[in-house]
Amino acid sequence: ISIEKIRNFCIIAHIDHGKSTLADRFLEITGTITKGKHEQYLDKLEVEKERGITVKAQSAAMYYKVDGIEYLYNLIDTPGHVDFTYEVSRSMRACEGAILLIDATQGIQAQTLSNYILAKKQNLKIIPVINKIDMTSANTESVIQQLVDKFNMNPNEIFKVSAKKGTGVAELLNNIVTLIPPPQDHKELKCFLIDSWYLRDKGVVLLILMKGGYLKKGDQILSCAFKKKYDVFEVGIQSPENVPQERLEPGQVGYVMTNMKASNEARIGDTFRHPLSKTLPETGFEQVKPLVYCGIYPEDPDDYNELNKSIFKLALTDPAVIIQKESSAALGNGYRCGFLGVLHMDVFRERLENEYNLSVLLTSPSVPYKAILRNGKDVMVENAIMAPDAAVIKHYEQPMAIATIMCPEEYSPSVFQLCDARNGRLIDSEKYDKQDRYTFKFPLNEIIQDLFDKIKSATKGYGSLEYEFCGFEKANIVKLVIHLMDDPVDALSFMVPEERAHQLGKKICQRLKDNIPQHLFVVSIQAKVGGKVIAAEKIGSTGKNVTAKCYGGDYTRKKKLLDRQKEGKKRMREVGRVTVRKDTFISVFKDD
Ligand code: GTP
Repeated sequence: ISIEKIRNFCIIAHIDHGKSTLADRFLEITGTITKGKHEQYLDKLEVEKERGITVKAQSAAMYYKVDGIEYLYNLIDTPGHVDFTYEVSRSMRACEGAILLIDATQGIQAQTLSNYILAKKQNLKIIPVINKIDMTSANTESVIQQLVDKFNMNPNEIFKVSAKKGTGVAELLNNIVTLIPPPQDHKELKCFLIDSWYLRDKGVVLLILMKGGYLKKGDQILSCAFKKKYDVFEVGIQSPENVPQERLEPGQVGYVMTNMKASNEARIGDTFRHPLSKTLPETGFEQVKPLVYCGIYPEDPDDYNELNKSIFKLALTDPAVIIQKESSAALGNGYRCGFLGVLHMDVFRERLENEYNLSVLLTSPSVPYKAILRNGKDVMVENAIMAPDAAVIKHYEQPMAIATIMCPEEYSPSVFQLCDARNGRLIDSEKYDKQDRYTFKFPLNEIIQDLFDKIKSATKGYGSLEYEFCGFEKANIVKLVIHLMDDPVDALSFMVPEERAHQLGKKICQRLKDNIPQHLFVVSIQAKVGGKVIAAEKIGSTGKNVTAKCYGGDYTRKKKLLDRQKEGKKRMREVGRVTVRKDTFISVFKDD
């Protein structure tokens, strides 16, 4: 198919505005799938079930005739959550146009806005589409007004559809040909990497946009980022199942299987070319860095080997996660992992539990801090244990984020209260009909704890939040260390903003007090910053010795008691002079 007949586009929408439903209608109307057979194809497709691993279809190739001429539409999927903004821009890089889908009952939401801004930045042709016009609560006219006011759109160019019933969807499909331009041909072989995933028996599968040239089985390609060569085993399109092709042509979006084995060699945004050509790679695509760190430990320390095997296997499928070994006297052996956001972290934990059948515990998430040293250098501190000595540090910097919050106007006071308590600085605000939009600057640390959930509950679910990392700023960060009987506990050291140290120290001391059993001596618990005690608790002694009551004679009874104590000990762990239950530290990290 010639490149003038190809259209590459994506659908961008706020969560639940109907993206998957619309994609399903596209697939049906174009005859790519049979009507009614597959609900939510693009979203839920389990392309390959390899012992439970589900792989979403990241693109769908659809052949569609307009005025008797056959076109190839490539619908490229964009993920829909705040943690994955970078993935949205990645998908957009492969498109010339975007369908901006807005729920007629809800109007513009935080993600509508951020997606719109991303699409504009990438110079995409934007087609505004109002969905769910069949609903009685639809406010189609007022949503049109919002689009005119906020995005300067022409009301005559706004499509109105019901993705559910199919109303207006064919008309939209027919217009894509004229509204969205075809891709450009760069003539030489140039493959832009949109996405990748991992199949256990096939290795890494690449989803690429053919910027130019042809690619077929037997070819060799070279990664511009890593300068590594790969042999191409198979090429094809997702329609929506994998359909092998003779070759991929300019403008097409397709999958490529090679002898690449590790998914961290597939860097989204990388360019692949012929090993001998001089083609320049695509530029301007930043590699994302994890902004949320946590410790992952097996719930049962005996499962450490299992966890060790599984966590690296899982990481092969997820190039955005970073994993380092970590061991702690209190928690045992585990890992320090870096994620894009809290959702990403949750997804990873869920996959470890579901796909690998492991019970793991996660320490509370934290952000990386930048320590500016007296010698002019700087180091990232992702873990309090690794923090450089206070004497060499000039000051710390913390990651900041710009957050966009939208909510119905009546909830604005509660939203403000919440943001204020989390050190949000209001930068901008705007009214959208009966919706308010606020832009706040937050320390990222304040966002990742629970801001998303708190906003949701403060607005009865109507509020939405989007955030984006915006650099580091100087901050008063201190190292808080918990001591048991004057011994520092490594698992219980934290980097925290100074003003939060007291509150956190107090909370942890209290929780330890509630969870550590009484000893023969008084147990002292202290939270210290820079050697100074900022919170403390004590656990009174019992003086109880289990065998004390069995004076001499009754040996069997004594033995039974000692055995029971031994059994109990298995669940216990020594931290310095103090014996704690294995789950003590977990309870310290658990949410309120
Ligand atoms: P995420 O994948 O979670 O981002 O959601 P989505 O944007 O893909 O939305 P989805 O297609 O799952 O639709 C969300 C809900 O809205 C579903 O319950 C759909 O059935 C419903 N829905 C989608 N389109 C329409 C429509 O045109 N009319 C009505 N009445 N309901 C719709």
